Formats: sequence, C-alpha cells, structure tokens
Amino acid sequence: MPSQVKRLILLFGIAAAALVLVRFLLVPDSFGRYGHYRADAVDEVAGMEIRYAGHLLCQECHDDVDAVKSGSMHEAVSCEACHGPGNEHAEDPFENRLSAPRGRRRCAYCHSYNPSRPTGFPQIEPDEHGGEEPCITCHNPHQPEPLVGIEDCEACHTEIAKTKSKSHHLSLHCTTCHATQERHPGAPREMRPDKPRTRSFCGQCHGEDASSPETIPRVDMATHGEDYLCWQCHYPHFPEGRR
Ligand code: HEC
Ligand code: HEC
Ligand code: HEC
Ligand code: HEC
Ligand code: HEC
Ligand code: HEC
Ligand code: HEC
Ligand code: HEC
Repeated sequence: MPSQVKRLILLFGIAAAALVLVRFLLVPDSFGRYGHYRADAVDEVAGMEIRYAGHLLCQECHDDVDAVKSGSMHEAVSCEACHGPGNEHAEDPFENRLSAPRGRRRCAYCHSYNPSRPTGFPQIEPDEHGGEEPCITCHNPHQPEPLVGIEDCEACHTEIAKTKSKSHHLSLHCTTCHATQERHPGAPREMRPDKPRTRSFCGQCHGEDASSPETIPRVDMATHGEDYLCWQCHYPHFPEGRR
C-alpha cells in the first residue's frame, strides 16, 4: 500500500474518533429532544431577567409624553430606544430613576450619515450639524418636526442651502434675510430678491441691545469692524466668528 494512502486512512480514523468523542462528551443532554437544537435553551431564555418594559407600559403613566410623540416623526421610535431599558423603572419609578439622553451621542446613533440607511432617512453629519450644542436645544426629542420647512429656494440654490445647513445660521430661513417675490422662481433674473444692505440688518439679532434670544452672540456695533459691511468679513451663509 502506498504511504500516502496509509496517511489518509490514519487521518480519517482520527476524524471519526474525534466525532464520536464530541458527540458523547460535548453535545448537551437536551439536544435533539424537540429537534435540531438544545431544548434546555427554552427554559434558560424564559428565566432571563426582563429588562425592557415595552412602550405600552410607559404610556400608561406618561400619557402626556405619549400625546406629544404620537403623530410626530418619532412615533415609531420606542421610548426605550432612547431612554434605555426601563422595566425596573416601570415597577418602581421613584426607586429606579430613568435618565434622558440629553447629549448628542444617542441621536447620532440613528441619524449620523451612513450610506446603508434607507433612501430619504433624515441624516446629518454630526461634526458639522448644529455646532456643539446638544440636539435638544433645537429639536424636541418627542416631536422632532422639521424646523425649517422645505424651502422652495433649495431646488435652484442648492449650494447655498447646503452650505447654510452646516453653518451657525442653519435655523434661519432664506427669506429672513431675502424678501423674495413670488415670481422670482419663474423670472429669476428680472425679479431679484432683496439682499441685506446695512450693518444694522445683522444688528437686529447681533447688536448688544437686540431683543433676539440670549444664545445668539453679540457684538458692539459701534466698534466691531465699524468701517465695513458685516459680510465683507463674514460669509452670511456660513458665518464664522468664534475662535
Ligand atoms: C407606574 C408608572 C410609570 C411607568 C410605568 C413608567 N414611568 Fe417613567 N416616571 C414615573 C414617575 C412617577 C416619574 C417621576 C420620578 C421622580 O420624579 O423621581 C418618572 C420619571 C421618568 C423619567 C425621568 C424624567 C426626568 O425628569 O429625568 C423618564 C425618562 C421616564 N420616567 C421614562 C419612562 C419610560 C421610558 C417608561 C417605560 C419603560 C416609563 N417611564 C414607565 C412613572 C412611570
Ligand atoms: C428620540 C429619543 C426619545 C424618545 C423616542 C423618547 N424620549 Fe423621552 N426624552 C428624550 C430626551 C432627550 C429627553 C430630555 C428632554 C429635555 O431635557 O428637554 C426626554 C425627556 C423625557 C421625560 C422627562 C420629562 C419631559 O417631558 O421632558 C420623560 C418623562 C420622558 N422623556 C418619557 C418618555 C416616554 C414615556 C417615551 C415614549 C412614549 C419617550 N420619552 C420617548 C428622548 C426620547
Ligand atoms: C432609534 C432610532 C432613532 C433615534 C435614537 C433618534 N431618532 Fe430621530 N428619527 C428616527 C426616525 C425613524 C425618524 C422618522 C424618519 C422618517 O419618517 O422618515 C426620525 C426623525 C427625526 C427628525 C425629523 C427629520 C426631518 O425630516 O426633518 C429629527 C429632526 C430627529 N429625528 C431628531 C432626533 C433627535 C434630536 C434625536 C435624539 C434626541 C433622535 N432623533 C433620536 C429615528 C431615531
Ligand atoms: C427656479 C430657480 C430659482 C428658485 C426656485 C429660486 N431662485 Fe433665487 N435665483 C435664481 C437665479 C437663476 C438667480 C440669478 C442668479 C444670477 O444672476 O447669477 C437667482 C438670484 C437670487 C438672489 C440674488 C439676487 C441678486 O441680486 O444678486 C437671491 C438673494 C435669491 N435668488 C434668493 C432666492 C430665495 C430666497 C429663494 C426662495 C424663496 C429663491 N431665490 C428661489 C433661481 C432661483
Ligand atoms: C442649532 C440648532 C440645531 C442643533 C443643535 C441641531 N440641529 Fe438638527 N436641524 C436644525 C435645523 C434648523 C434643521 C433644518 C435645516 C436643515 O435641514 O438643514 C435641522 C435638521 C435636522 C435633521 C433633518 C435633516 C434632513 O436632511 O432631513 C436631522 C435628522 C437633525 N437635524 C438631527 C439632529 C441631531 C441628531 C442633532 C445633534 C447631534 C442636531 N440635529 C442638532 C437645527 C439644529
Ligand atoms: C443671515 C442672513 C442670510 C440668510 C439666512 C441667507 N442669506 Fe443669502 N445673502 C445674505 C447677504 C448679506 C448677501 C449679500 C452678500 C454680498 O453682497 O456679498 C446674500 C447673498 C445671496 C445671494 C447672491 C449670491 C451670493 O452668493 O452672494 C444669493 C443667491 C443668496 N444670498 C441666496 C440665499 C439662499 C437661497 C438662502 C437660503 C438657503 C440665503 N441666501 C440665506 C444674507 C443671507
Ligand atoms: C434672525 C436673527 C439673525 C440675523 C438677522 C443674523 N444672524 Fe447671525 N446668528 C444668528 C444665530 C441664531 C446664530 C447662531 C447662534 C448659536 O450658534 O447659538 C448666529 C451666529 C452668527 C455668527 C457666529 C458664528 C460663530 O462662529 O459662532 C456670526 C459671525 C453671525 N451670525 C453673523 C451674522 C451676519 C454677518 C449677519 C447679517 C448678514 C447675521 N449674522 C444676521 C441669528 C441671526
Ligand atoms: C473687519 C472684519 C469684520 C467685520 C466688518 C465684522 N466682523 Fe464680526 N468678527 C470678525 C472677527 C475677526 C471675529 C472673531 C474674533 C472676535 O471675536 O473679535 C468676529 C466675530 C463675530 C461674532 C462672534 C462673536 C462671539 O462672541 O462669538 C459675531 C456675532 C459677529 N462677528 C457679527 C458681526 C456683525 C453683525 C457684523 C456687522 C455689524 C460684523 N461681525 C462685522 C470680523 C469682522
């Protein structure tokens, strides 16, 4: 008999012995009772600690939150997808507090740009969107409706719209700064929208005595770049100021 055949027979012998060994030593007793799997697994899984309560239970006590959330774009997102497992909390809400994801990370988990997400799913680039502020300073997590309606301007002024959406001015409508005639889209070069002309236009929000929300940074209009128009230094669709 040639030596390579002997070696082959030896190899088969070892494999067969290993199979027998594994079958009797390693295969669990309950394997095969109900079919091709381990029957004990059913009891083990049933005995696991229950960690999630399900949104129906949350709604029983937090019907105010549910009322806001249902019908919103987050209707299909379960409470515990954001707040984490809540079964212990549902059993004793005062003893086991649940926290809220007030930072940026949890939201980015679903909304950061990823080409494998379905077409049209709302996605953002977390490093470029909304500065460093928590998402909830601008979006209500229980009712995250679009903050700026789809603007008719985007179709033609795509670059500007895209630039603005990555800037600190993302929450401003185009029409806040450009009074636009209804007929502009039909005759864009004849019907030209207005453009800001004076420093005081920007001062409405950025002047020290402006009545705009406090989070908007202020400058002293009398001394800040006083000899120039604001947009000679700041691109209005992507204004940069903070060092
Ligand atoms: C039995 C009623 C009950 C159920 C069920 C319940 N909660 Fe609560 N929840 C409460 C109460 C009461 C508080 C206030 C606790 C406190 O102030 O110490 C609370 C507080 C919270 C808070 C903290 C709010 C804050 O200010 O930080 C969150 C978040 C929350 N619940 C989410 C949930 C979620 C998610 C579920 C479902 C898994 C759920 N709750 C189920 C009664 C309930
Ligand atoms: C998309 C993520 C998300 C989902 C889904 C969500 N929450 Fe919240 N929830 C938050 C965040 C973030 C806060 C903190 C809001 C804040 O501090 O302004 C919050 C706050 C709360 C609070 C504190 C009180 C309040 O009204 O601000 C309660 C209670 C609560 N959520 C319960 C629920 C329940 C119940 C559900 C399901 C019906 C739910 N949440 C679904 C993210 C979520
Ligand atoms: C578990 C996944 C999930 C998490 C976590 C989540 N979202 Fe959403 N979000 C969704 C889904 C699903 C929609 C609806 C998409 C649709 O209808 O096309 C949505 C819609 C939105 C929209 C509306 C987008 C538009 O078209 O204008 C905003 C804004 C938003 N979410 C913000 C947030 C914020 C802020 C948080 C964190 C507090 C958050 N999301 C956490 C899944 C999630
Ligand atoms: C159908 C396409 C279209 C739409 C929709 C559209 N524009 Fe325009 N827009 C143009 C064109 C073309 C010009 C001229 C560009 C040029 O002359 O270089 C223009 C010019 C402008 C200018 C510059 C005017 C000037 O004198 O320099 C502004 C500001 C402007 N558009 C704002 C808007 C705003 C705001 C909206 C939405 C409310 C909008 N546009 C919608 C096509 C469009
Ligand atoms: C400074 C305010 C601000 C902050 C902070 C902010 N957003 Fe937004 N977000 C907006 C505005 C305004 C829009 C609508 C304009 C746009 O689509 O560019 C928007 C749009 C979105 C959209 C819809 C995008 C689309 O293409 O439909 C999603 C999703 C979103 N934000 C999620 C988030 C998440 C997640 C965070 C935190 C990581 C966050 N936002 C932080 C203001 C903000
Ligand atoms: C904060 C105010 C502000 C907002 C918001 C704004 N613009 Fe402007 N825009 C200006 C100013 C100021 C100028 C004039 C710049 C100059 O003359 O150099 C301008 C110029 C323009 C021009 C002329 C060409 C150019 O690039 O200079 C177009 C077109 C335009 N804007 C379109 C838009 C569109 C579309 C939007 C919304 C996506 C928008 N703007 C939002 C302030 C704004
Ligand atoms: C309707 C109010 C409004 C008007 C008008 C306005 N801005 Fe702003 N501006 C804002 C808001 C909101 C922010 C973002 C504040 C934040 O990040 O919290 C901002 C931020 C800025 C910043 C700071 C950016 C940074 O890096 O922090 C500069 C610079 C700026 N705007 C310049 C201008 C100029 C130039 C004009 C005039 C063409 C103008 N703004 C008109 C509301 C306005
Ligand atoms: C000569 C150039 C120049 C002109 C003109 C100018 N700026 Fe600035 N601006 C700057 C520089 C540089 C910074 C950043 C350094 C600093 O804070 O002084 C800045 C910062 C800012 C900031 C951010 C301040 C903060 O605390 O975060 C705002 C808002 C601002 N400018 C608005 C305006 C407005 C509104 C006008 C028109 C009235 C204007 N700027 C005109 C150069 C200019």
